[in-house]
Amino acid sequence: MGSNVSELTTYLAYLNGEWQQSESGEKIAIQSPYLRRTIGYVQAVTQNEVDQAIKNAHQAQKEWAGLSLSKRGSYLLAWADELVNNQEEIALAVMHEVGKGYKDSVKEVVRTADLIRYTVEEALHMHGESLRGDGFPGGPQKKIGIVERMPLGVVLAISPFNYPVNLAASKIAPALMAGNAVIFKPATQGSISGIKMIEALDKAGLPKGLLSLTTGRGSVIGDYLVEHKGIDMISFTGGSSTGRHLSKQSAMIPLVLELGGKDPAIVCDDADLDVAVSSIMNGAFSYSGQRCTAIKRVLVNEKVADELVARLKEAVEKLSVGSPEEDSTVVPLIDDKSADFVQSLIDDALAKQATLVAGNKRKDNLIYPTLLDHVTEEMDVAWIEPFGPVLPIIRVKSDEEAIAIANKSEFGLQASIFTQDVDRAFAVAKEVEAGTVQINGRTERGPDHFPFLGVKASGMGVQGIHNSLVSMSRQRVTVLNLK
Ligand code: NAP
Ligand code: G3H
Repeated sequence: MGSNVSELTTYLAYLNGEWQQSESGEKIAIQSPYLRRTIGYVQAVTQNEVDQAIKNAHQAQKEWAGLSLSKRGSYLLAWADELVNNQEEIALAVMHEVGKGYKDSVKEVVRTADLIRYTVEEALHMHGESLRGDGFPGGPQKKIGIVERMPLGVVLAISPFNYPVNLAASKIAPALMAGNAVIFKPATQGSISGIKMIEALDKAGLPKGLLSLTTGRGSVIGDYLVEHKGIDMISFTGGSSTGRHLSKQSAMIPLVLELGGKDPAIVCDDADLDVAVSSIMNGAFSYSGQRCTAIKRVLVNEKVADELVARLKEAVEKLSVGSPEEDSTVVPLIDDKSADFVQSLIDDALAKQATLVAGNKRKDNLIYPTLLDHVTEEMDVAWIEPFGPVLPIIRVKSDEEAIAIANKSEFGLQASIFTQDVDRAFAVAKEVEAGTVQINGRTERGPDHFPFLGVKASGMGVQGIHNSLVSMSRQRVTVLNLK
């Protein structure tokens, strides 16, 4: 599959409904994390081109907002069909560009088509409401409020590298269905996949100017986009430090942030360890832990800790490690810098007397799955998000201690609790500070119509299909005053 990479294609930006070279004349090289070479170039779009794209988006949005929901939906359904029809080509781009296993890359594309279709259905079934004045001045007979949902205008969608198709479409589809235009800024490493996805939308016949794809480094055009007066809402997924920066840069416009996590798996002394082990393994190591929702620490009751660690060790040693082309679970990380960072967390923990159970082996940016036991609160790996295949185990004496350590984290995306006692599960779930708590299952975003949110440094606002449609629209109230 590696030999099929288009040799050094220069991809065009999609501006105002046309595929174009940037006036900058500059292009950015995209390196494959596992082929370890340049696989293509994308355009470095200029601020002037951003201005033009936003201006055209405002013009196109007016007409788009006037279309019926079913007409808007017809473009999106055609887009979903195009994605499915081109799933192999798009999945290959994802695999080459971000090193995700081929089967998982195909799943990402198909999941995206499903998400788009559900978004259309959901939008078609969202209705306004009317209210009476009730006991307030004016009285029940005097005032009727009609509440409708209106688009916001132009939505800026910024996506991360790890789901370059799905986490972009999960912003673009609801933005469009809600009647907005979109400026899409993909992660630089993820741009080629984003371009392939937008090619499918272009083929579906989307009106010109309604969506523009502005490739370019976040550090160069990011602030310009975020601060632009023509942007009416920002939907961002990425790291917490970038999210924090964005929230300072943007002013007086709605902002939804889906950020990093340090999701704990809390394993009680009555847990079904078969369920816990398979969920933790899958949750922690798939795509080398490069998921915001990866299980990033285990808080295990000391009564079952030895057995859990022994079983995790056995499972870690069986993990497939290598190439995304062979669908290995553990694959090279997105770049060498990320691998250096993960290695530094492992080194710090070992220097502070953590027990190495498995791993701590590295080849370039391929970090072998690493299991660390007896991790203490003094070690960085207890708190910092690695975005890599390292799993720290912290032994606790009680549920209360597990909850306290879980909540000491700056993050609050998701948490898992493993117990066979449903009352105990709910008691722990109630105390853990997280957007979602999974009982006897791995931490994960889907199903895609569930609300998806992080608390504390893990985010602001809520995603998930219904909530994205809500956050990308506003209410308009028209009051009928009766005689
Ligand atoms: P990142 O470095 O924060 O980048 C995310 C996006 O922000 C990219 O498109 C990036 O563009 C852009 N960006 C960077 N600086 C910007 C600026 N000043 N203004 C506007 N945009 C800017 O994150 P990542 O490395 O791609 O993804 C990994 C992180 O995302 C992890 O922390 C992970 O937990 C988190 N994540 C969270 C979720 C969630 O739903 N909670 C989902 C996936 C990932 P460039 O690529 O051009 O720099
Ligand atoms: O990386 C962040 C994604 O939102 C995680 O999605 O739980 O479906 O892998 P996932």
